Amino acid sequence: MNENIEQSIPDEYWKIDEDTKAAGFNMASDMLTCSLLRTLASAKRGSTFLEMGTGTGLSTAWILDGMDAASTLTSFDNNETVLSIARKHLGHDRRLQLVHSDGEAWLQQNADKKFDFIFADTWHGKYLLLNETIALLNPGGIYMVDDMLPQPNWPEGHAEKATQFVIDLENHPDLTLTKQNWSTGIIIAVKK
Ligand SMILES: C[S@@+](CC[C@H](N)C(=O)[O-])C[C@H]1O[C@@H](n2cnc3c(N)ncnc32)[C@H](O)[C@@H]1O
Repeated sequence: MNENIEQSIPDEYWKIDEDTKAAGFNMASDMLTCSLLRTLASAKRGSTFLEMGTGTGLSTAWILDGMDAASTLTSFDNNETVLSIARKHLGHDRRLQLVHSDGEAWLQQNADKKFDFIFADTWHGKYLLLNETIALLNPGGIYMVDDMLPQPNWPEGHAEKATQFVIDLENHPDLTLTKQNWSTGIIIAVKK
């Protein structure tokens, strides 16, 4: 099967991509992952979405493209430089709240919130404070991570962390999950 993205690409994507490259930001999710995010987002109507690790807003643009008008997306990042690119291109979207925050602080301040969809794309919510993050999911809510297949830029010791993270997810009593050797390595879990 051809893995090219045959469907429309979100309007803002290429403009963000240009600014992303100019800023030298090289941690963006790949387009296959983004396409899956959009498809899953479109399955959740009138829902609350959380993205942990906005980057420059590339994946954010795809999630927004799948969301309906009644849904909202909160996305945080601790790097104001990359966040400002997301703000420039996506800040007009009233469904989106972009937050400049450290992941740990954000989780501490928002432990009472509930979400129907979480894309965990930074340390917190994935390698750190996983249980606190899963506690934010509503029953039936989707949790997704990428970059689970070995990546050339992984520092020494990261492969072991990734292996342990997968074990933690598999053993989590509240999750039903599927691991996919596709794109950069995707895990999708749903809260029981
Ligand atoms: C993999 S990138 C996100 C990419 C983005 N989701 C995309 O697909 O384009 C991870 C992001 O996490 C952010 N980050 C790193 N440490 C963080 C922390 N302690 N708290 C919040 N964000 C953090 C980085 O600034 C970076 O933008």
